[in-house]
Amino acid sequence: MLRTALTSQSRLFSSSAARLTKVAVLGAGGGIGQPLSLLLKSDPLVTSLSLYDIRGAPGVAADVSHVDTASEVNGYAADQLDQALEGAKVVVIPAGVPRKPGMTRDDLFNTNASIVRDLAAAVARVAPTALICVISNPVNSTVPIVAATLEKADVFDPKRLFGVTTLDVVRAARFLSGISDAPPSETVVTVIGGHSGATIVPLLSQTAHGKVVTGEAYEKIVQRIQFGGDEVVKAKDGAGSATLSMAYAGAKFTNALLRGLNGEKGVITPTFVKSPLYEDQGVDFFSSNVELGPNGVEKIHPIGPISAEEQALLEACLPELKKNIEKGKAFVA
Ligand SMILES: NC(=O)c1ccc[n+]([C@@H]2O[C@H](COP(=O)([O-])OP(=O)(O)OC[C@H]3O[C@@H](n4cnc5c(N)ncnc54)[C@H](O)[C@@H]3O)[C@@H](O)[C@H]2O)c1
Repeated sequence: MLRTALTSQSRLFSSSAARLTKVAVLGAGGGIGQPLSLLLKSDPLVTSLSLYDIRGAPGVAADVSHVDTASEVNGYAADQLDQALEGAKVVVIPAGVPRKPGMTRDDLFNTNASIVRDLAAAVARVAPTALICVISNPVNSTVPIVAATLEKADVFDPKRLFGVTTLDVVRAARFLSGISDAPPSETVVTVIGGHSGATIVPLLSQTAHGKVVTGEAYEKIVQRIQFGGDEVVKAKDGAGSATLSMAYAGAKFTNALLRGLNGEKGVITPTFVKSPLYEDQGVDFFSSNVELGPNGVEKIHPIGPISAEEQALLEACLPELKKNIEKGKAFVA
């Protein structure tokens, strides 16, 4: 039993030589923020955890701080955002409202755009060199909002801003494992594009277990990877969207970022960043495999060879993604 727990934890967190890393979670009192904070408390690469929310963060911090790992935990109330951000190397943002049944991620724009903009302005002021991981939806728009806000403050560094699309990667591995005779560790799929519906493009053809999925089974798994979030929204029946699997994905991505910061080589994962790949088509943010390093983005990988079906998915993705990105930019302009 103990061995299973340790093994499964090592799948989530790998560690190399640790150095002092303070991670701030903005929105730590929420459905994602709470389990994410707990998982980050278990990550040996996090030495200090700073939990902020407009409500409830001191309570979450008091609770999480009793977990017997080495990191220190501090909670900050609504009026203590600047203190929460002081000295943060990584800022993870799951603040904002989640979906209810029938809503798209874009329906969240009106509420979450200003939340994310205001938090980004505080990061620009207090922790301008921090790496920022945006979880708040719609990611396709909130990441450009953060970029434009940092740009206005003259501190935007494209190597340091990430939209967290890891849940799509986690789902793709899990769903492909479900229809293959292989564990998820062997069914890892690169997912490119953006983070909503048709903008999510899984590259199944690039994996041994994925390229043999054809016909109806292919259509079904692509649909499930693109709209897997809806399964959770529907099952939760008005109580929100994915929180636990998202916390897992957020902790996994943060760990990858910290390993890169610590100088580990070969840390590569899809994430939504300022990207040259489709810039000539007006899509200047895009998720593809990114190598992470001491400065954040080390190298943006090209998407590689794709099938005719994936080319069609990409063609459907780009115009929608462009609209989402432009909407985010227009909000800050
Ligand atoms: N990237 C992804 O894959 C992914 C997956 C699932 C959900 N999400 C998104 O994550 C966000 C959070 O979801 P949730 O289920 O945790 O929602 P939630 O409502 O349970 O929690 C959100 C938290 O944000 C806090 N908050 C609101 N305004 C704030 C502000 N200005 N500063 C700090 N905190 C603030 C709230 O008090 C609340 O505690 C949503 O936008 C959701 O759509 C993203």
